[in-house]
Amino acid sequence: MILARSWPHGLRTGLLAADADFSRIWPNHAAGRIIDAMLVRERTAADHDAVAAFLAANDSSRVARLGTLCEPLDHPALLAVDDAGTLAGVLTYVMDGTACEILTLHATRQWQGTGTALVAAVRSLAGEAGCRRLWLITTNDNVDALRFYQRRGFRLTALHSDAVTASRQSLKPEISETGAHGIPIRDELELSLLL
Ligand SMILES: CC(C)(COP(=O)(O)OP(=O)(O)OC[C@H]1O[C@@H](n2cnc3c(N)ncnc32)[C@H](O)[C@@H]1OP(=O)(O)O)[C@@H](O)C(=O)NCCC(=O)NCCS
Repeated sequence: MILARSWPHGLRTGLLAADADFSRIWPNHAAGRIIDAMLVRERTAADHDAVAAFLAANDSSRVARLGTLCEPLDHPALLAVDDAGTLAGVLTYVMDGTACEILTLHATRQWQGTGTALVAAVRSLAGEAGCRRLWLITTNDNVDALRFYQRRGFRLTALHSDAVTASRQSLKPEISETGAHGIPIRDELELSLLL
């Protein structure tokens, strides 16, 4: 199922009227034109190997957060696919009753609108499924993600001090000591968006 299209050069929230599913994502945009179109759709069984490779390339085959370890490939995903059929981004999520967790989110090329399109799509899916909250965990070094999510309405709702330090010791020793901008990675930050 096609969930959304995004346009990197100024028409990122445009729509194709011909695709009825778009109205579920951006109901206030009835028409648009395509420039370097990107498609957002749900992962299918045929995507298994490509998504596994994408997650591995982004060091996300296993995710440790809140004291537990999980494998994103075991969970549903939304894929952003470019005109050539190449994966431009992957968002994995966990739907759990009234809340939906964004487990992983990566864009192959940053600042092209991919992350925005994927978050819009999961937000729509979660709302339709009856979720009241969309949330995620990121790490203290990830200032790009902190900007990205806050600019999209997410609030900082919890600080789990030294949670990464604990995960590194007991769950996932391969977690780097140092992250973006040379910042020591120690803490988990929880961000939430009420739906
Ligand atoms: C964080 C991340 C997912 C964001 O995805 P992204 O595709 O880069 O995000 P977008 O391009 O949709 O939006 C980012 C910014 O670029 C801007 N932008 C988008 N297209 C643009 C364009 N063509 N020209 C200039 N700016 C553009 C957006 O307006 C946005 O700016 P804003 O934050 O000031 O609103 C991505 O940077 C990433 O993969 N990071 C590494 C992994 C990670 O940290 N994941 C999140 C951890 S939970």
